[in-house]
Amino acid sequence: MSKTQFFTSLKNEVARIDEAAISKRFEHLIEDFNGDPSPKAIIEGQTISIFNSNDYLGLRHHQALKQAEHDASSKLGTGPGAVRFISGSFAVHRQLEKKLAAFHGRDDAMVFSSAFATNLAVIFSLIKGQNKDSLVSGNTLVISDELNHRSIIDGVRLANLESDAKLIFKHLDANSLSEILSTNSEKFDRVVIITDGVFSMLGEYQDLKALRMVVDKYDDKFKEGVLLIVDDCHGVAAFGKTGRGTEEISGAKADVLVGTLGKGFGADGGYVVADQVVIDYLRESAATYIYSNSISPGTAAAASASLDVINSSEGQKMIQKLANNVVDLKNQLTAKGFKFAASSVHPIQAVLIGDTAKTRDLTKEMYEKGFLVTNINYPVVPKGRDEIRVQLSASHTKEDIAAFVQAFSEIGKKLAII
Ligand SMILES: Cc1ncc(COP(=O)(O)O)c(C=O)c1O
Repeated sequence: MSKTQFFTSLKNEVARIDEAAISKRFEHLIEDFNGDPSPKAIIEGQTISIFNSNDYLGLRHHQALKQAEHDASSKLGTGPGAVRFISGSFAVHRQLEKKLAAFHGRDDAMVFSSAFATNLAVIFSLIKGQNKDSLVSGNTLVISDELNHRSIIDGVRLANLESDAKLIFKHLDANSLSEILSTNSEKFDRVVIITDGVFSMLGEYQDLKALRMVVDKYDDKFKEGVLLIVDDCHGVAAFGKTGRGTEEISGAKADVLVGTLGKGFGADGGYVVADQVVIDYLRESAATYIYSNSISPGTAAAASASLDVINSSEGQKMIQKLANNVVDLKNQLTAKGFKFAASSVHPIQAVLIGDTAKTRDLTKEMYEKGFLVTNINYPVVPKGRDEIRVQLSASHTKEDIAAFVQAFSEIGKKLAII
């Protein structure tokens, strides 16, 4: 009887979500890709151009990655077989970590099953302050950007800090951060600041140079200093002249940088890069690394091949092509009369629609015409800021973009958006 009641509560919650039209479980199933140079998905037998993927460089279909994955799996098996410290560490994992550290100009790197798992463990391990069995004891203040990704929020939640030890600075506002630091400098031994590099709703990025100046200014005002953690999942292998992301765009570095291998790198998994001492400490304390499998050897080999491609002249051309695609799409949509929800130079371009029903209709009709985009509605964005999030890839051709703009404009006119 009691379990029946429990399941009824679950059912009611699902019904509430469906009623609010925010369900996530009715996603399209990709059955195949058609294999042309700018691969289109086959969904329910229909050919669909994907304009909402994080595969920013188109690397998930690159032959070198597929071959590397195939070769490693053939030799080493399809799964890691154990967690890293038991018998799940392969040479290919270490090779990938060394390449990631070199890519970001850091001492060392650690690979996790996902960036979500990376954030949970890195953040918890570096901020847990009051636990009696903690490796790090001390009085830590955590300050987060108000629009940080869910994985950061959950990492902070795990640490179960007192409410006055977890504060929020205004989105993208280094002055707001500075004010919080100045009013708290007597109260804490150390500070950990955490932010997304690129924010995925609008494609805006945190100005790390401005943040770095604030961090450096306050570093000696706290007994154990101020640490800056940046999660740049949407920045790495997506923008910056050589694909180094927000650090490259804004010309300043984080103390601890988290990235994903599952977006621009075209593989899967997450990682952190930092000074040797931080990585050594994390290998001893990060629960989702110690007690959970890493990526398979095949995935590690694909990610490793991805880094080689990105570092090559071919990869640099892909990055340039992606940047050109961003400019092309923006120019063409602007010429048609569309407005953007933010000024973004990132492959995430949020087209401002401002009306929930129209945003949903536009997404639906785009799908019927063979294009996948994402509608982002209130309450995820403020009322009147409903948007269509378009994500570009280096694999989009000029023809793909032109066809996209034509379909988008036709529907936009029909719905009286432009
Ligand atoms: C900012 C940010 N952090 C972390 C993640 C999680 O990445 P992963 O899919 O590798 O867990 C995402 C993915 O959406 C993200 O956008």
